[in-house]
Amino acid sequence: MRLLTGLLFLLCSSYSPPLVQSSRPCPHLCACYEHADLVDCGARGFDRVPSGLPHGTWLLELGKNNLSEVGTRAFTGLWSLRVLVLTNSHIQLIQPQAFFSLSFLEKLDLSWNQLTSLPADFSTSLLALRELRLEHNSLCYIPAYSFKYLDNMEKLDLSYNQLVSFGSGVFRGLSRLRQLYLHNNRLTVVQHGSLDMLPALEILQLSNNNISLIDSDALASLYSLAILTLEGNNLRHLKFKTFVSLHTTATHIQLSGLHKTPQLLLKLFLY
Ligand SMILES: *[C@@H]1O[C@H](CO)[C@@H](O)[C@H](O)[C@H]1NC(C)=O
Ligand SMILES: *[C@@H]1O[C@H](CO)[C@@H](O)[C@H](O)[C@H]1NC(C)=O
Repeated sequence: MRLLTGLLFLLCSSYSPPLVQSSRPCPHLCACYEHADLVDCGARGFDRVPSGLPHGTWLLELGKNNLSEVGTRAFTGLWSLRVLVLTNSHIQLIQPQAFFSLSFLEKLDLSWNQLTSLPADFSTSLLALRELRLEHNSLCYIPAYSFKYLDNMEKLDLSYNQLVSFGSGVFRGLSRLRQLYLHNNRLTVVQHGSLDMLPALEILQLSNNNISLIDSDALASLYSLAILTLEGNNLRHLKFKTFVSLHTTATHIQLSGLHKTPQLLLKLFLY
């Protein structure tokens, strides 16, 4: 529904009559489209978030710059911002309150940076966020409170980091989360309670970690799970109970590449 609204928004704005460009200032070096709703500051060599961004900016492209960090209140006043792209910008640090005032932001792309941690208040302002991309960073650990306010999140990509573990209950309360990507990290255990209260989760990617243990009821509450990938792990002794406890009969489990897994037996248990 929201997607539709967004689409309509885009369509409507592209059909409205052209406005005099000079009445809406555009930051130096950036390109502004659709009466400055869409602002492209990508690949312009910026070492900080440019000033003078139009207040009505709906989408801000800031990828492929050299930002090093996202400072406190870097986007103040951009109440209309829905999509913020910060991919591939050499970001090593996000300061506290960096995303202050972005209460309507729906999509945040922080992929392909060098983040090793997130600030404690990372999610505080991001109440409307539906998609968060953090893949290809250097995160080792995600503290329990990191995603606390992201009630509306549907897609979370944490793949290709250095994650060894999470704070307990870090995903708890993400009741609309449908896609969780954790592949290509260094996880070793899927613990009881770590994937609790994710009633909408449909896709869970855990492939290419170093998982040697899945607690037998760790996946039990994933009522909507349709795809689970586990290949490229260290699961020598799979507990069949783990999979029997999955409450859906429709889950497709991708297991190829598991060492010494008796595939036939597994099939017997799953069907
Ligand atoms: C990027 O920023 C860092 C620190 O601000 C600086 O040392 C480096 O030279 C910059 N790289 C480029 C390509 O401008
Ligand atoms: C994988 O986990 C085992 C312990 O279960 C550990 O000994 C090994 O070093 C880990 N391998 C990698 C690549 O992290």
